[in-house]
Amino acid sequence: MGKLRLASSCLLSCLFLLFLSSVSATTDDLQDKQVYIVYMGSLPSRADYTPMSNHISILQEITGESSIEGRLVRSYKRSFNGFAARLTESERERVAEMEGVVSVFPNKNFQLQTTTSWNFMGLKEGKRTKRNPTVESDIIIGVIDSGITPESQSFSDTGFGPPPKTWKGVCSGGQNFTCNNKLIGARDYTSEGTRDTQGHGTHTASTAAGNAVADTSFFGIGNGTVRGGVPASRIAAYKVCTESGCTSDALLSAFDDAVADGVDLITISIGGKTAQMFQHDPIAIGAFHAMAKGILTVVSAGNSGPIDSSVSAVAPWVLTVAASTTNRGFFTKVVLGNNKTLVGKSVNAFDLKGKMYPLVYGKSAASSVCDAETAGLCEPECLDKSRVKGKILVCGSPKILKIANSTGAIAIIFQNPKPDVAFIHPAPASGLSEKDFESLVSYIESADSPQAAVLKTESIFNQTSPVIGSFSSRGPNTIAVDILKPDVTAPGVEILAAYSPLGSPSVNDPRHVNYSVLSGTSMSCPHAAGVAAYVKTFYPKWSPSMIQSAIMTTAWPVNATGTGIASTEFAYGSGHVDPIAALNPGLVYELNKTDHIAFLCGMNFTSSSLQVISGEKVTCSNANKILPRNLNYPSMSAQLSPTNSSSFTVTFNRTVTNVGTPNSTYKSKVVEGHGTKLSVNVTPSVLSFETVNEKKSFTVTVTASELDLNLPSSVNLIWSDGTHNVRSPIVVWPK
Ligand SMILES: *[C@@H]1O[C@H](CO)[C@@H](O)[C@H](O)[C@H]1NC(C)=O
Ligand SMILES: *[C@@H]1O[C@H](CO)[C@@H](O)[C@H](O)[C@H]1NC(C)=O
Ligand SMILES: *[C@@H]1O[C@H](CO)[C@@H](O)[C@H](O)[C@H]1NC(C)=O
Ligand SMILES: *[C@@H]1O[C@H](CO)[C@@H](O)[C@H](O)[C@H]1NC(C)=O
Ligand SMILES: *[C@@H]1O[C@H](CO)[C@@H](O)[C@H](O)[C@H]1NC(C)=O
Ligand SMILES: *[C@@H]1O[C@H](CO)[C@@H](O)[C@H](O)[C@H]1NC(C)=O
Ligand SMILES: *[C@@H]1O[C@H](CO)[C@@H](O)[C@H](O)[C@H]1NC(C)=O
Ligand SMILES: *[C@@H]1O[C@H](CO)[C@@H](O)[C@H](O)[C@H]1NC(C)=O
Ligand SMILES: *[C@@H]1O[C@H](CO)[C@@H](O)[C@H](O)[C@H]1NC(C)=O
Ligand SMILES: *[C@@H]1O[C@H](CO)[C@@H](O)[C@H](O)[C@H]1NC(C)=O
Ligand SMILES: *[C@@H]1O[C@H](CO)[C@@H](O)[C@H](O)[C@H]1NC(C)=O
Ligand SMILES: *[C@@H]1O[C@H](CO)[C@@H](O)[C@H](O)[C@H]1NC(C)=O
Repeated sequence: MGKLRLASSCLLSCLFLLFLSSVSATTDDLQDKQVYIVYMGSLPSRADYTPMSNHISILQEITGESSIEGRLVRSYKRSFNGFAARLTESERERVAEMEGVVSVFPNKNFQLQTTTSWNFMGLKEGKRTKRNPTVESDIIIGVIDSGITPESQSFSDTGFGPPPKTWKGVCSGGQNFTCNNKLIGARDYTSEGTRDTQGHGTHTASTAAGNAVADTSFFGIGNGTVRGGVPASRIAAYKVCTESGCTSDALLSAFDDAVADGVDLITISIGGKTAQMFQHDPIAIGAFHAMAKGILTVVSAGNSGPIDSSVSAVAPWVLTVAASTTNRGFFTKVVLGNNKTLVGKSVNAFDLKGKMYPLVYGKSAASSVCDAETAGLCEPECLDKSRVKGKILVCGSPKILKIANSTGAIAIIFQNPKPDVAFIHPAPASGLSEKDFESLVSYIESADSPQAAVLKTESIFNQTSPVIGSFSSRGPNTIAVDILKPDVTAPGVEILAAYSPLGSPSVNDPRHVNYSVLSGTSMSCPHAAGVAAYVKTFYPKWSPSMIQSAIMTTAWPVNATGTGIASTEFAYGSGHVDPIAALNPGLVYELNKTDHIAFLCGMNFTSSSLQVISGEKVTCSNANKILPRNLNYPSMSAQLSPTNSSSFTVTFNRTVTNVGTPNSTYKSKVVEGHGTKLSVNVTPSVLSFETVNEKKSFTVTVTASELDLNLPSSVNLIWSDGTHNVRSPIVVWPK
């Protein structure tokens, strides 16, 4: 059966609209049947084609009934071809196999609510987002992670047709593991089976491509519809991680298989603490092969921030993703006996009904073996349980949380080393900033009988977003110093997504959940992968570099907040991903394997290292070598040595490809960044394209009389034709 391409501009949006307006079965004899939308792509242009009679004859054939009264709910024949009908499960299966049928969707009631991260990025639910459902359901996302939970509703295949024809993989998830038409592939490199026992892989996969699942929450917190960026796409899970980590061997095998299996995109929320030379980095090597086969790899930046040089995914052939907040934040109030309220961070689903309990600071509950200072941090062996029991324990660190309940405390209030992120804890808890913690301690020390209530977590709409997570790894790139990393930021703070009921939502937590809240670049990575897949559904032929460029040059500028490098491109690269804008970049910076090899030659890699990375024997010569900063990357960066940091001139050569409209003229504009004021000269300053796919080259010369020695300095180059703004940050920094 040849899949029909959707020619009309009525996309999945039409289907969502119809879901909302369709009726559901009411009579008894229809109870075993559900309303499905049988989607048949664009309308045939043949004059003799009458959709309605075609739909009726399909239904007659499927049901074996000549009268299909009560079966056909609606015939769609205006903007696309298809119908809604009441079908049994086996009828649904049969109709999905029929000639001309693209896919069969269940008639679900989608509610206009969301767990926010995709909405925040502008990818609204339902009809408000342009979609290309035919291609979207042909896209396969390879998730290299800790496995997956096949039974999760986020991966249910209700309404999915058979796997795309391009799929060459297998379902070999081990015992008690079944794939379906949503989760089409599974491989295991851990000998545990592909089932996710931790939750991480289930979470990332559902963020990239999970179904829309209504009424999800973590015990009521963050309630709404959870969904991935491309809910109609397929997932293949490659399990490389166990509780004890992820081996290079497993990682390389997973890449090898994923590429051969025919995935369209790889998302990998795995990394080391620091960057490694490419020839020692299995993710860089695996991703190089994927790139050579036309597959983009999206990688998490790492969670070792905010210290500089902590970004671990640094190769220019991967999209490296930092993590930031959305406009939904979780907080947990602490109400003190003096009626003062402190706003702490945590995801606290335990409801203590607002009841006040006596407060005890760890310092005043020291056991005989510890000094008060250590007890103040609540080192486990330092507490005298009899003084803690039945009270709210106050701790200078979160260490005790892991064994919170064994202390006998009702709740824990702690000083939060990451005060910008709410985590789940196994007991009622709230984490305070240093300032609020000090005010709590002074209340305890001054009040006669200090007491407090720890409330249930609330959500707020926070307009001060996005803000980069403190944990998100920062540049500069320690391996390829002239390649700016991370590339972009995406939501990675307090993300609700599917989870494994076999895992715990926090350490020593006896609860089991299907949906949980996690934070990290592990969460932002599949968001960016979902965006990349979304772009690919509109441009299936685009190379990895074109998709990467579209995402980078259309990213929202992120406002500088915080201090030091946290407020610079070393935190967020080109900015925050914008899926809608990425569909229409105007110009792209293209790169292929040859360009990357020229870059590696320019970095002076030896032939043997080059062979490890590229899998080929390559001899570098002046002819196939470029200055690393002249790699045709969508951002521009240069490390300057101290000798020329006082007064310098640095040039970048770039070539853009017109993917917008023919006969367009782009003018260069320079928009201020931060740090030292940089002068920029762009030659030529105007680029005219007659045709689509035409390429034009230009040179950027950046000069300044002196350079800030502590921070990177930046400006933005924008190519604008009045419609598209193709933005590249230019970042220079002293060694
Ligand atoms: C979790 O998911 C499983 C499998 O989909 C389901 O059987 C179970 O009822 C769910 N649990 C909750 C609390 O929703
Ligand atoms: C298969 O896995 C499910 C989900 O974890 C579990 O509930 C069930 O007991 C397992 N069955 C067997 C035979 O292991
Ligand atoms: C979440 O639950 C609260 C309390 O029941 C309700 O007020 C709110 O509307 C719900 N939000 C969504 C998005 O469903
Ligand atoms: C706290 O507020 C309650 C009611 O709002 C009031 O009855 C009580 O006196 C207040 N306590 C203090 C210490 O201000
Ligand atoms: C810890 O305490 C909470 C509430 O006090 C309880 O619901 C939870 O089950 C306890 N956890 C453990 C590990 O016992
Ligand atoms: C909103 O977000 C900003 C930036 O992360 C943070 O400083 C502020 O405390 C948040 N506001 C609330 C009410 O949580
Ligand atoms: C950045 O800050 C400026 C000035 O404070 C404000 O006008 C603009 O909306 C902010 N932009 C973003 C993306 O938050
Ligand atoms: C790669 O791109 C360069 C232009 O940068 C082009 O000259 C070359 O032919 C391309 N190589 C391949 C294998 O497509
Ligand atoms: C590569 O080697 C050349 C010649 O020794 C040197 O000038 C250049 O700085 C080196 N490049 C890098 C990136 O190390
Ligand atoms: C810095 O100065 C050195 C020697 O003076 C020169 O070779 C190099 O190209 C300069 N680098 C930049 C980026 O201007
Ligand atoms: C960069 O472009 C300029 C101007 O076209 C050219 O003279 C120079 O050779 C180019 N440099 C490289 C390394 O390609
Ligand atoms: C572009 O401009 C050329 C020359 O003016 C013209 O011949 C051509 O038809 C134009 N192409 C389009 C698609 O408008």
